[in-house]
Amino acid sequence: MKGYTICYVLFPILFVAVLVESAGAAEGEKDGVYIVYMGAATSSSKNDHAQLLSSVLKRRKNALVQSYVHGISGFAARLSAAEAQSIAKTPGVVSVFPDPVYQLHTTRSWDFLKYGTDVVIDSSPNSNSSSSSGGYDLIIGILDTGISPESESFSDKDMGPIPSRWNGTCVDAHDFCNGKIIGARAYNSPDDDDDDDDDDNTPRDMMGHGTHVASTAAGTTVPDASYYGLATGTATGGSPGSRIAMYRVCARYGCAGSSILAAFSDAIKDGVDILSLSLGSPASFMLDYKEDPIAIGAFHAVENGITVVCSAGNDGPSEETVTNVAPWILTVAATTIDRKFESNVVFNGEKVIKGEAINFANIGTSPVHPMIYGKSAKKTDATESEARNCNPDSMDEEMIKGKIVLCDNDDDSYTFYSKEEEVRSLGGIGLVLVDDKMSGVASNYNEFPLTVISSKDAPGILSYLNSTKNPVATILPSTVVSQYKPAPTIAYFSSRGPSSLSRNILKAKPPDIAAPGVDILAAWMANDTEVTLKGKESPKFNIISGTSMSCPHVSGMAAVVKSQYPSWSPSAIKSAIMSTASQINNMKAPITTELGAIATAYDYGAGEISTSGALQPGLVYETTTTDYLNFLCYHGYNTSTIEVISKDVPDGFTCPKESSVDLISNINYPSIAVFNLTGKQSKNITRTLTNVAGDGNSTYSLTIEAPSGLTITVSPTSLQFTKNSQRLSYQVIFTTTVPSLPKDVFGSIIWTNKKLKVRTPFVASSR
Ligand SMILES: *[C@@H]1O[C@H](CO)[C@@H](O)[C@H](O)[C@H]1NC(C)=O
Ligand SMILES: *[C@@H]1O[C@H](CO)[C@@H](O)[C@H](O)[C@H]1NC(C)=O
Ligand SMILES: *[C@@H]1O[C@H](CO)[C@@H](O)[C@H](O)[C@H]1NC(C)=O
Ligand SMILES: *[C@@H]1O[C@H](CO)[C@@H](O)[C@H](O)[C@H]1NC(C)=O
Ligand SMILES: *[C@@H]1O[C@H](CO)[C@@H](O)[C@H](O)[C@H]1NC(C)=O
Ligand SMILES: *[C@@H]1O[C@H](CO)[C@@H](O)[C@H](O)[C@H]1NC(C)=O
Ligand SMILES: *[C@@H]1O[C@H](CO)[C@@H](O)[C@H](O)[C@H]1NC(C)=O
Ligand SMILES: *[C@@H]1O[C@H](CO)[C@@H](O)[C@H](O)[C@H]1NC(C)=O
Repeated sequence: MKGYTICYVLFPILFVAVLVESAGAAEGEKDGVYIVYMGAATSSSKNDHAQLLSSVLKRRKNALVQSYVHGISGFAARLSAAEAQSIAKTPGVVSVFPDPVYQLHTTRSWDFLKYGTDVVIDSSPNSNSSSSSGGYDLIIGILDTGISPESESFSDKDMGPIPSRWNGTCVDAHDFCNGKIIGARAYNSPDDDDDDDDDDNTPRDMMGHGTHVASTAAGTTVPDASYYGLATGTATGGSPGSRIAMYRVCARYGCAGSSILAAFSDAIKDGVDILSLSLGSPASFMLDYKEDPIAIGAFHAVENGITVVCSAGNDGPSEETVTNVAPWILTVAATTIDRKFESNVVFNGEKVIKGEAINFANIGTSPVHPMIYGKSAKKTDATESEARNCNPDSMDEEMIKGKIVLCDNDDDSYTFYSKEEEVRSLGGIGLVLVDDKMSGVASNYNEFPLTVISSKDAPGILSYLNSTKNPVATILPSTVVSQYKPAPTIAYFSSRGPSSLSRNILKAKPPDIAAPGVDILAAWMANDTEVTLKGKESPKFNIISGTSMSCPHVSGMAAVVKSQYPSWSPSAIKSAIMSTASQINNMKAPITTELGAIATAYDYGAGEISTSGALQPGLVYETTTTDYLNFLCYHGYNTSTIEVISKDVPDGFTCPKESSVDLISNINYPSIAVFNLTGKQSKNITRTLTNVAGDGNSTYSLTIEAPSGLTITVSPTSLQFTKNSQRLSYQVIFTTTVPSLPKDVFGSIIWTNKKLKVRTPFVASSR
């Protein structure tokens, strides 16, 4: 269908967003699936839950979609808007909201997964893939599209018996589970009316995404992995010693919030250690914490000692695009690795222009194919801009047939896949796309000769096309460039901070950490014809990009840390990963964005993961339940709501009298954000560090990296620990030296002893 805009193609969730908004309005509310959230599952909540549920079920048959009783209390049910409203008023109900649909965080939506894309798992170039038993016997739960158990990455060779604490199971998955995949469940999406699509009932992966993510987190070591010879190497997950429990919550149309909440509840009961979610809402559609099943589920998972790692989203590089920002979540941005896939253009005899793409072009290495600029093939009723962008129905078939077409990509109405389709359907034999946004990310075009060049190289080709009557060129098949410099860089698509949700809070909450998420090779589902080259066997690995791919790198790492320090809380693990991150690339220069600017905490949080560092952080910030509850107070929830939400409310807890959002800066988080800092004002922030170094006596001294416009005073200036588990606090006073900071500014507070460095990034803003 023509006139599909990129918005609809990429974000089917927008339909849902519209639906949700209208459901929230007084007029025009809709009947549909609603989630009724009743806080933590406690013995006292069980009665409320049972009563409310039975009253709902009396009203209508088949109303119930999901019921949550482990860790989380509540249910999802088909309700009228009036019923939803009346249930919302029932005591014990925290919130009632329409079931949202989330999207996977690959750079392509599922709509385009079928074109094949980039895959495979390999660990970060700077990382030291510890031992092959990394993450020994930890259990990583993954909420995704399912898993392909045939993959060699999920072999259970050398894995001992399943840990006896495991309380999960494999449902509707015959011959599915082994010593590596120890749990598998699937959830029916409530809105999937698609009759011919019974895929929902199995944890088998029909899309590839879940298989890729699972093998990145915990795949066993597979030598000689590649995508048809590209990126050949040993594929290993972040914690090859860990077990996998797959919770299939996504189908073609997206990932239902009601399913996600059910998976969280099951995972809590099953006894996973880490949860990994490579999905979320788009930046345009942020949900408040108590209406966001990911935030809700993660809160209760963390209450139960489970570390929750989520992707930050692919809506960068604009600010305020980061998603999954609740402070109990570890939020992951994406970086490039030191490997590129080059598919170059040869024209004008010997001239070569570098292009980036994964293709197996076979039109020869000699520049003998006629080439044309889209604009030169303009149809009379199309605009010049449409034609040079190779938009559907803008170019003349006779002019395109048999030629390589040069296309711009500077209007956002169509995806480059629709341009590819248009050129192919008009008989074009190749496509050179001019696009800086794609820089650093090689998409997969299989056999079609398509490559992406930078705009700075475009004038060279354009003037050649202009200069001769019969211009000729060719597109070379991809080759791999390794040890590429600089790396890592922040992926163009990676979502940025600050959070648009609660300013002070983690505005401080940009992404927390960054990890490889560009052109990652990892296991792929079996028999996927869309990524299979003609006449070849289907690939066992694939190369894809997204914060979806960076998230499981960190999940694997969290498992490795947890296996070494089983008693550490999720916040201690998060702190260890953040305070030891790196800000330096492989040229010993500061990590930059894809476009070359020095990266800030808004781009990568604390920095790029350092696998060795996180195992020896020295000191950690422990964010307590009280911190999280205070956070909810500051965010605007009252004491009675919070008492329902959390099972761990300390006796006598009440929200502080002055619960302003400004106070969010004070929760004991491994990064600091202060906002509203104007007119030579000061803000006084407290942080508390816990000694986990294991050697008892240790003195840390202070270094401050302060941006201009800001004075930072820290006291004390030395932290002298005398025993393990000891906690010491320090104060930081931020003072502006100018009436108003010109923009948000960044810096860090670093505590070092002779061996270890504990870095705390901060952002300060007048906004
Ligand atoms: C990797 O491990 C080796 C041996 O333990 C060590 O010498 C090396 O410095 C480590 N490299 C990194 C990047 O941590
Ligand atoms: C183990 O699972 C059963 C149901 O399968 C559940 O009743 C029980 O509470 C679970 N145990 C734990 C410790 O969560
Ligand atoms: C191509 O030629 C036209 C007219 O001959 C001229 O207007 C245009 O600027 C040229 N473009 C390039 C990129 O050289
Ligand atoms: C893939 O296809 C082959 C050949 O048709 C078949 O034998 C095999 O069972 C299929 N594998 C899966 C996982 O569907
Ligand atoms: C707490 O907030 C909820 C939801 O906004 C509201 O319904 C309730 O009345 C409030 N309770 C108190 C004691 O203010
Ligand atoms: C900033 O300060 C003003 C006045 O002091 C207050 O009303 C506002 O809520 C604050 N905003 C944030 C984001 O803290
Ligand atoms: C900052 O706050 C701490 C803890 O509340 C307090 O002890 C300290 O005196 C304060 N410092 C200033 C300069 O206000
Ligand atoms: C740390 O130092 C103190 C005094 O210097 C000493 O009494 C104590 O035993 C030491 N603790 C450890 C664990 O070494």
